[in-house]
Amino acid sequence: MSDQIDEYFDAALDLVKSAGNLIIEFRNGCKAYEQKSSDIDLVTEVDKNVEKTLMDGLSKNFPTHKFIGEETVSEGGQCVLSDDPTWIIDPVDGTLNFIHGYPQSCISVGLAINKECVAGIIYNPVLNLLFTAKKGNGAFLNNKPIHVSQTKELSKALISFEAGTSRDPERLRVMFENFRTLVEKGHGVRTIGSAAMNMANVALGGSDAYFEFGIHAWDIAAGDIIVREAGGVCIDPAGGPLDLLSRRVLCAATAELAQELSKSLQQYYPERD
Ligand code: IPD
Ligand code: CA
Ligand code: CA
Ligand code: CA
Repeated sequence: MSDQIDEYFDAALDLVKSAGNLIIEFRNGCKAYEQKSSDIDLVTEVDKNVEKTLMDGLSKNFPTHKFIGEETVSEGGQCVLSDDPTWIIDPVDGTLNFIHGYPQSCISVGLAINKECVAGIIYNPVLNLLFTAKKGNGAFLNNKPIHVSQTKELSKALISFEAGTSRDPERLRVMFENFRTLVEKGHGVRTIGSAAMNMANVALGGSDAYFEFGIHAWDIAAGDIIVREAGGVCIDPAGGPLDLLSRRVLCAATAELAQELSKSLQQYYPERD
């Protein structure tokens, strides 16, 4: 199995690196975009081209593999996670950043087998940050091992969260409530506009935890294995196991911090896909 994962991972890595050139071309921003579910849920031709490049390349190499790709799902494709090897692809995570030329966007590719993420790649080509992990093999930034922090207490933690791409009033109310809690109880709060980069920052020990209500499988699949291989935990924000399709995530450097954060947060349950 691990030889097979190596083969899958190597093929994906080549494709991700070359697709990164499509993003670098627009490193100063991309003026042409369309709206999807809301006026802040946007897509560009680059999102679509990166996803097509990755899916075409991977299905040529591995014809029996399945896919969950953000832009394919947005255009009516299925979002189904079976036990088959499934590539979970976010072609540009942080599209709003990409449009503005704010250099926090990345390609995020996770591979799930038996519904478990076994390999992940997060690549920010503009800042040349390549985060990788394979099950049982550790996590890396530009081929150097990375590890989560040792932080166990919320009062010492730097926490990231995101407002997301919906302006639903109830979701925003919960978000502001949690923002207040973290400002009052934590060391500091950050929001950078990319779920995958947030998870990568937890993996490298730069931040201590990240949570979000309203994400999708493609936002977190690669981050899930990268954080866990870096020694951290990924759970449901209410405390149970992470469900990639639940649209909820909490990852943290330590189980103690994850539990304390989970108990401190007001919960929100977005509709599932
Ligand atoms: C979004 C980003 C953002 C998060 C949203 C995601 P996209 O992904 O990760 O940080 O708050 O929930 O949808 O649309 O830029 O790929
Ligand atoms: Ca999007
Ligand atoms: Ca995303
Ligand atoms: Ca995206």
